[in-house]
Amino acid sequence: MFRYLRDRLPWGDSLPVSQARLDEIMRLSRAEPWHAHAISHRQARRHACVACRWLVEVMPPAAHVFEPGCGSGANLLWLGLKGAKRLSGADISPEAVIMGQHLARDMGLPLQIWQDDCLKPTRLPESADGMVSVNWLYHIPGASLDAFLQTYAPALKRGGYLALDMVTRHYDRQPGNQWHTKDRQLPEGQRRPSEYTIRMDAHEVEDTARHNGFTLLRSTCFLLSRPQRAVYLLQRI
Ligand SMILES: C[S@@+](CC[C@H](N)C(=O)[O-])C[C@H]1O[C@@H](n2cnc3c(N)ncnc32)[C@H](O)[C@@H]1O
Repeated sequence: MFRYLRDRLPWGDSLPVSQARLDEIMRLSRAEPWHAHAISHRQARRHACVACRWLVEVMPPAAHVFEPGCGSGANLLWLGLKGAKRLSGADISPEAVIMGQHLARDMGLPLQIWQDDCLKPTRLPESADGMVSVNWLYHIPGASLDAFLQTYAPALKRGGYLALDMVTRHYDRQPGNQWHTKDRQLPEGQRRPSEYTIRMDAHEVEDTARHNGFTLLRSTCFLLSRPQRAVYLLQRI
């Protein structure tokens, strides 16, 4: 019960960036406005915060953490503030990468961040102690958790940890779930497909993890989040 509540309370998850400096970094990097929101409202993004918190609890001190699809590196920077010593991440957006470089410099954290297509990475970390993967894979048409785990398992140490989130199949039952959330008012012919391209329930995540050499250590479902998301902590066997 304590853990359940702790995962839902937004304390200690924010990043020390002033609004003025954030505005300046947004101007310099030209990153999408979403990335500023992800920094200034980080504590409300429970799926991201909980994944990071769980990693801090299990990783060794001075850990090496990698994040594919890391955006501006907000999660990695939070992990750096909590003691992780090697922080690396990749994102397809060069603007997000520039934003991450500014933020890391401001916080005095050794973030290595580069531009890459993380579905077909040209560069993988070696022997990471932990990996966080939230809020990107299930937005990409054609992506799958199975292919993701096959690609990234070798970058983790044996015994290393992967924290990830996933949209649950609860979303399959929402009216209009096949359409992009911003297009629901448009005539059908003008709507884009949903931005939530992968939806999986816990047993599917667990089976896919096992098939790829991971064991499930812990999970929690944010029942009221829209779309409903669950967070998983896996360990590479
Ligand atoms: C909603 S943001 C989430 C960022 C970060 N994971 C977080 O939760 O704070 C999604 C990110 O995925 C990135 N992205 C989308 N497709 C990608 C790809 N194929 N490879 C790497 N990054 C990708 C976008 O550029 C964007 O920064």
